[in-house]
Amino acid sequence: MITFRPLIKFDKPVTVILVDNQQAKKKKFPFTHKALKDQIALLVQSDQFSGEDGQVFPILLDNTLVLLVGTGDPKALSFTALRVTVRKALLSSLLDKVKEIEIILSQDDKTVKAVVESILIGTYAWRKYQTKKKDNKKIDMKDKKIFIAAQKKKAYEEAIHICEGVNLARDLVNDNADTVTSVYIEKVIRNIVEGKKNIFLEVLNKKEMKAKKLGLHLAVNQGSKNEPKLIIVRYNGASKKGDYTAFIGKGITFDTGGLNIKTSGHIETMRLDMGGTAAVIGTLKNAIALNLKKNILFVCALAENTVGSSAYKPGDVIRGYSGKTVEVANTDAEGRLVLADAISYVVKNYKPSRIIDIATLTGACIIALGNDYTGLMTTDDKFSRALVRSSNETDDRVWRLPVYPELKDAVKSKIADIRNLGYPKGAAGTITAAEFLRQFTYGTMWAHLDIAGTAFDEGTGRMYFSPGATGAGVRLVTHYLENN
Ligand code: BES
Ligand code: MN
Ligand code: ZN
Repeated sequence: MITFRPLIKFDKPVTVILVDNQQAKKKKFPFTHKALKDQIALLVQSDQFSGEDGQVFPILLDNTLVLLVGTGDPKALSFTALRVTVRKALLSSLLDKVKEIEIILSQDDKTVKAVVESILIGTYAWRKYQTKKKDNKKIDMKDKKIFIAAQKKKAYEEAIHICEGVNLARDLVNDNADTVTSVYIEKVIRNIVEGKKNIFLEVLNKKEMKAKKLGLHLAVNQGSKNEPKLIIVRYNGASKKGDYTAFIGKGITFDTGGLNIKTSGHIETMRLDMGGTAAVIGTLKNAIALNLKKNILFVCALAENTVGSSAYKPGDVIRGYSGKTVEVANTDAEGRLVLADAISYVVKNYKPSRIIDIATLTGACIIALGNDYTGLMTTDDKFSRALVRSSNETDDRVWRLPVYPELKDAVKSKIADIRNLGYPKGAAGTITAAEFLRQFTYGTMWAHLDIAGTAFDEGTGRMYFSPGATGAGVRLVTHYLENN
C-alpha cells in the first residue's frame, strides 16, 4: 500500500533514498538531515558509495535503516535501471520483517511514475497457490506500507491506477486455465463496468455466434466444453459521438494446439494465451479509473483450443463472419482465426476509426524479438510513430516489423480464399500472421501487437518483473489513449 504525505520525516524503520552520482559528488541531497548527510559524504569520500546506478547501500542511523539507491548520471538517467534498482532495494532481505518504509525521491513526474511502478509492478508476485509457512515471519510486500513524500499527487495517483490495471492483467494470466474460463472473464468484465452509465455491453455466446455465423471462432472452440464468447464493451467517454478506438484481445483461455497438438516444453504455459484479452481488460479498468474522455471499444475474443473427437480438424475449410473461407492448415494457428471473426465483426457492426489488436499470436515473434519487445505491425506510419512514442514513454516496449503487399502470397490457399499458415518451415511466421489479420480489417486503420514473447516470463523474471505474467501492453495502450 502506498501513502502520500507532504513531508520527509525519517519516522519509519526504513528510509529508502534515491541518490544520483552528481548529488553524491556534490553532496547535495534532497533532505536536511545533517547527521545523514555527513554519513553519506564520508561514504562517498571513502569510495564506498558513488550514486552509480544499481548500487544499494545500507546505513544504520539511530533506529532507522537508510537504504541509499544509486540512480547514476542524471543526464543519462535510465528509468528502466531506476525501476530495477528500487525494486532490488525493496526486495532486499534487510526489509523482510519491516512493515513501514519511507521513500525519498526527486519530484519530477517521470521519477515519480517509475518509483510507483517499482513498488507496484516490481514487487508483484503470484502467490495464490503458495501455502504460507507458519514459522515464516517475513512480511508480504502487499502488507507493507510505503510512504512517499509527495508534492504532486496527480502523477502518483495516475501511476497507481495504471499499475493496478497491469496487475489485474497479470492475475488473469497467472491463474489456472480452468479457473479463468470465458464465463469467469465475463464476470470480471461485468464487475468492472457495473453501474457505469456510459458503458454498454454486447456478449455473443455460442447461440448468437451461430446465428451471426462467426464460423472461425466457433470452429476453434468446437472441442471445448466451455462456451465461446465475444464480449464487446462500448465505452463512451467523449462528448461527441463516434471516433472509436477498438482494442481487440486474443483470448484463448488454453491453447493445446488442437489436433496439431503442442509438445512438452511448449504446452505448459499456454494459459498465457489470453494475455491479449487480459491486456484489454487491464486497459478497460484504467480507462474507467482515469476517466478517459475517449470513445473506446474493448473486445475480448474468448475460446479454448482443445483436443477431442469433436475438435476442428487440420484441413477443414471454414467460412468466417466476413464470408471469406479459410483453409485450416494447422489447428495451432487458432489465434488468427478467432481474431479474424472478431475484427470483421467489429468493423462491420461498430465501424471503429482504428483498431489495435493485442495477441500472444506467434512463437516466431519470440524467435525474432525475444522477451523484451512486443512485435508491432501496421501499414500506417503515423499510427506506428504514435505507438512507438508511447512505448518509449512507458517502457512497455515495441519494435516494428513490416507488413507489405507481397505478403499476400504467403497466405494464399489452393482450396479456400485464404489459409491460416504462412510460408513453409515457418519463415516470417509473425508478419504472415499479421497479413492474415490485415485481410479482415477491410481498410480500417489497424495495428497489431504480438505479445507472445512479452506477456509471460517462463524463467526467473526479467528487468523489474517477477516470473509469470507481465501485463504487457497495458501501460503502452493506456498511454496511447491518454495522448492521442
Ligand atoms: N499461442 C500460440 C503462440 C505462442 C507460442 C504464444 C509461444 C506464446 C508462446 C499460437 O496460437 C501458436 O500456436 N502459433 C503457432 C503458429 C503456427 C502453427 C503457424 C506457432 O507460433 O507455433
Ligand atoms: Mn496455437
Ligand atoms: Zn494460441
